[in-house]
Amino acid sequence: MGDSLARLNGGVAVITGAGSGIGEGLAHRAAAAGMKVVLADIARDRIDKVAADIARTGGIALPVVTDVSDPAALEALADKTFDTFGSVRLLINNAGIETLGLSWEIPAATWEKTLNINIHGVIHGVRAFAPRMIAAGEPAYIANTASIGALGIMPVQTSYILSKHAILAYSECLYMEMQLKQLPIHVSAILPGPVATRIFTDSAGTRDATSNFHQKVMEDMLAANGMTGMEAASIILPQIAAEKFWVSTHADMTREYAANRARHLAELSLPALPPEVLGLLGDVNAR
Ligand SMILES: NC(=O)c1ccc[n+]([C@@H]2O[C@H](COP(=O)([O-])OP(=O)(O)OC[C@H]3O[C@@H](n4cnc5c(N)ncnc54)[C@H](O)[C@@H]3O)[C@@H](O)[C@H]2O)c1
Repeated sequence: MGDSLARLNGGVAVITGAGSGIGEGLAHRAAAAGMKVVLADIARDRIDKVAADIARTGGIALPVVTDVSDPAALEALADKTFDTFGSVRLLINNAGIETLGLSWEIPAATWEKTLNINIHGVIHGVRAFAPRMIAAGEPAYIANTASIGALGIMPVQTSYILSKHAILAYSECLYMEMQLKQLPIHVSAILPGPVATRIFTDSAGTRDATSNFHQKVMEDMLAANGMTGMEAASIILPQIAAEKFWVSTHADMTREYAANRARHLAELSLPALPPEVLGLLGDVNAR
């Protein structure tokens, strides 16, 4: 994997959710690897700042305000990218939001927003870019940010967790479609573990005691145990370039989650949290 980043040098990267956290880190790392970087995010001030930071270090970055929940916005992003820079070597469908609340209490509009960003944002990102990446006939990479949560279950984060399970399954099928058609587009599923970002602070959902308690526990956990977005990106990008399908930030934790999930399914055991997580969230039922 040592020199895998050399494969990215001189290419164009498109990163959604590039204004903060993991996406911001990926944008910096891609620019440092010699890529022109298109920064797509709903937050204009954030991508303008990231673009200025990249420009200051001699890189090239194009901020494009994009709401990934809108398929037409993703088509416009693709048009802008191909018109400005030509073919795309790396697409990272990374934008995602956290939503907290009990499933039956989350309003329909919030459910739809979550699924539209976390699931449809990825699906329509691929629809917008893949045909032109395929037509270019060159090796290229599509990476979708799921989560280590795609290998687990978590109450109160139900809408988020199911969206990440969907992205993992989607990415596996997309990988096989590329194989089936013998196309040189490599697909990766990114499964970050804890990364200290704004994701829980910005979370959508209900604002009842259960959600608020869960949010606080998770914010504290990320602050105490999370790596930075830049650290995560330094681990993620070489794995994508090395054509890994499973891309982790915390390899041991990923293996443990996968083994636990496999055991749970093989034994058809009842849904349950690991004791250490139950210890953290145990109070939640009393609220
Ligand atoms: N932080 C973690 O511990 C962690 C763990 C596993 C997976 N992830 C995943 O990593 C990805 C990035 O998360 P992060 O932790 O860096 O979060 P973050 O909140 O720091 O960054 C997310 C970015 O996405 C942008 N965004 C939100 N809605 C958007 C929309 N509709 N269109 C375009 N951009 C939008 C936000 O403005 C923000 O800049 C997400 O898919 C998240 O689910 C994060």
